[in-house]
Amino acid sequence: MAPASATGSASDTAGWTSRKGFVLAAIGSAVGLGNLWRFPSEAGANGGGAFVIFYIGCVVLIGLPLLLSEVLIGRHGRASAVESARRVARESKASRHWSALASVGMWGAFIILTFYSVVAGWVLYYVGLFAGDVLANGVGGAFQGQSAEQVSGYMGGLFGNAALQIGLHAAFMAVTIYVVMRGVTGGIERIASVLMPAFFVLLVGITLYSLATGDAGAAFSFLFSFNPERLLHAPVMLSALGQAFFSLSLGSAMMIQYGAYANRNTNLAGTSAIIASADTSVAIIAGLAIFPIVFAAGVDVAAGPTLMFQALPVAFQSMPGGALIGLLFFVMVFFAALTSSVALLEASMVRAMEVFGQSRAVTSIAVGSVIFVVGIGAAMSMSDADFFNPLALLPFFAGQNLFDSLDSLSGKILLPLSGLLTAIFIGWFADRRLIDAENGISGGMHILWRFLVAWLCPVAVGLILIFGLFPDLLG
Ligand code: PHE
Repeated sequence: MAPASATGSASDTAGWTSRKGFVLAAIGSAVGLGNLWRFPSEAGANGGGAFVIFYIGCVVLIGLPLLLSEVLIGRHGRASAVESARRVARESKASRHWSALASVGMWGAFIILTFYSVVAGWVLYYVGLFAGDVLANGVGGAFQGQSAEQVSGYMGGLFGNAALQIGLHAAFMAVTIYVVMRGVTGGIERIASVLMPAFFVLLVGITLYSLATGDAGAAFSFLFSFNPERLLHAPVMLSALGQAFFSLSLGSAMMIQYGAYANRNTNLAGTSAIIASADTSVAIIAGLAIFPIVFAAGVDVAAGPTLMFQALPVAFQSMPGGALIGLLFFVMVFFAALTSSVALLEASMVRAMEVFGQSRAVTSIAVGSVIFVVGIGAAMSMSDADFFNPLALLPFFAGQNLFDSLDSLSGKILLPLSGLLTAIFIGWFADRRLIDAENGISGGMHILWRFLVAWLCPVAVGLILIFGLFPDLLG
């Protein structure tokens, strides 16, 4: 067992100053590039409505029960995620090896941050591009006098410049490390309390603008038209479930960690419901912000990961005030990415504090630096197709670059595996009285939650894991 003194700020004394602080920090973690960059591109690539409906089903039936399971492990354990899981296991007289549910997740968070920060660096680049455009040409349509090819070519230009990508990644990691160094209350909670309200104001403003000036009708029918044939399409279902994990920050030790800072009196079920609904609303609203503009400009909605960085800037060319709205849009994405990256760093940093017994400041810098170095590889692999990817030696990652391998290793393996272990542990092995004292629900809701955690979550998550690992099974 780790020495209690080394838990530092993760110990019983430190924590969120209020329930509002907890809610904002947790929403800050959940709402990020997953909602703004990944959700619209996944929805676009998977045919819209069917994906959205299945996604919402996944959030309610799988995401929410797991979210409650994770925060309650944290609040009971009140240490690092790994140590918290071990404590709950010990008090349940179950094997201490159940702490693996958190170690797997912690490594998932560590790996996600290596490439998350690279993408956040791209976001910074677009903040700079739009800011430069506003300064040079005022607030009219973006990039006037440039062809669509030139504007969508900015992304290729960035990928061609490895040093610039690495520099932006370094800048983003430096800010992330700084916030985590400042601690749970003075760093994480404080920036969430400032950036999240600003984020919501920007999101609502940009969405109203987009619905008013873009093609709202096309966006609505794309996001909400129901096509039963697509709904029962296995790859669409798997993408939706994987996206729900990523977006709710599940299976990454992170919600256990934030739960560890929660006050004894906080109702965890109610709070989890607020977090999950805020995250889902933001994903859908982000779709309503992005698709009307993209449809109005007639650029490809199924562009995938380049949707935000290529299709959207081209779309802003023809919108009134597009330069300014584009700038505000990328500033908003930056805010969302930062409140997620600090959560990703916190999850592995606190464990390293326990293991190595160093201060929060030293540990934040050390862990953040290692993540930065691995991220350099991810950035380089976007610039250089031949960049060595050790993971590609394994058949599962064959043919992928390092960036994509890190994404699939975390998203398709580690997060679902951690979620699966969590569901089995809480559903079957954890002490019921201990769990019931933490969860804050009773009656029919309680029975439903138990059923979902013990039966639906393991089966559904087990399936994503299997199909994620062996996609050929889907034919
Ligand atoms: N949920 C975050 C997003 O949507 C990403 C994330 C995953 C953050 C796991 C923390 C832990 O961008």
